Amino acid sequence: MYDICVIGGCGHVGLPLSITLADRGKKVIVYDISTEAVHTVRQGTMPFHEEGAAGLLQKVLADGTLELSDSPAVISQSKIVIMIIGTPVDEHLNPNFQVMVDSVNQCMPYFRNGQTLILRSTVYPGISERVNDWLREAGLTMNVCFCPERILEGKAMTELYSLPQIISSFTPAGLQECRDLFGLLTTELVEVQPTEAELAKLFTNVWRYIKFAVANQFYMIANDYNLDFYKVYHAVTHRYDRARDLPKAGFAAGPCLFKDAMQLAAFNNGNFYLGHSAMLVNEGLPNYIVQKLKVKYLLNKMTVGILGMAFKGNSDDIRESLSYKLRKILQVHAGSVLSADPYVTDDSLLPQAEVIAQADILIIATPHKQYQGLDIPLNKVTVDIWNVLGRGGLI
Ligand SMILES: NC(=O)c1ccc[n+]([C@@H]2O[C@H](COP(=O)([O-])OP(=O)(O)OC[C@H]3O[C@@H](n4cnc5c(N)ncnc54)[C@H](O)[C@@H]3O)[C@@H](O)[C@H]2O)c1
Repeated sequence: MYDICVIGGCGHVGLPLSITLADRGKKVIVYDISTEAVHTVRQGTMPFHEEGAAGLLQKVLADGTLELSDSPAVISQSKIVIMIIGTPVDEHLNPNFQVMVDSVNQCMPYFRNGQTLILRSTVYPGISERVNDWLREAGLTMNVCFCPERILEGKAMTELYSLPQIISSFTPAGLQECRDLFGLLTTELVEVQPTEAELAKLFTNVWRYIKFAVANQFYMIANDYNLDFYKVYHAVTHRYDRARDLPKAGFAAGPCLFKDAMQLAAFNNGNFYLGHSAMLVNEGLPNYIVQKLKVKYLLNKMTVGILGMAFKGNSDDIRESLSYKLRKILQVHAGSVLSADPYVTDDSLLPQAEVIAQADILIIATPHKQYQGLDIPLNKVTVDIWNVLGRGGLI
């Protein structure tokens, strides 16, 4: 028997949680449909970069508190089941309910009466209640809970122990299970109703997405007036607490923020001006850069080098990365496009030194820490929307 089964436990959210719970002494079994990921993790290798996770993974495997399986049968052998699968929007930017429907249906034969099912994916509000209904209709008596994950990729191994955990359940027994489980990680638990918890998670992500859009719009306004955004940014934020949370400009991408803004828009019957505007601003930034370069330079005769293809700094995660969108647009407008990333393995990338040497224009698209103090000749045109080099962000 296992204390906990984590469905989707080889993913960016599932694996750090599985490792930390196993490190707290729980007997954890990871169930994942990806046989390849299960094999990799079982060997003690992280399938993606997550700061500080590799050593702890090897420890919990050696301790025997973490095991892995690609068979759903292990669900039946577990007291608590945590489900953390991806919840994308479809090609029309609508929530894709089918992913949850299919995953719950696949697991249904293995669920047992008396088990606690904790949903931890970011979901369209009301999904937890639907899952609760499906299980009851199937004759199962389970405690259904919704406890969203709010970690920042790359910081999971510290944030899992430091962030307050939002917990909710349809039954008092389920809520107590959540208190006991997440109480292993933190002393701060925030108890709400399931739909409140679902909305709290969406609000958390969309708040960030809109803040990034504000910074990006400010960046474009300053730049259009030939002013360096970062001089203005410094003036606004320097020892001025009320503006301290103004983010730097840069690509706001990845598998969560955009799709969660669209989930919230769908939940509000498509009426979400701020969310849609944020999407237009953030998704429009790559094209804005290219159009600016076209006005200033003979772009179609030049080689452009992109440094950073991951969607965020110090990460190998390229899911929904705007660097790839930038490259696609440049492939139409520039003479040629080269790209590099110290974290990403991708056949289309070249060594960084080669990209720097060959490019007429360099764009720092991802704020990897390796780029700070990078030796780029001063006479080479450099676009640094994040101001990683500290030379400003003017295009
Ligand atoms: N990535 C983040 O930083 C982050 C942060 C907070 C919340 N979230 C949310 O967490 C959820 C998961 O995101 P992620 O980034 O970990 O996704 P991911 O794609 O990295 O991981 C999902 C895992 O689930 C597995 N899987 C998919 N369907 C399955 C099934 N039916 N049975 C068993 N395994 C299955 C996949 O093989 C994969 O390993 C999403 O809802 C996301 O919005 C993500």
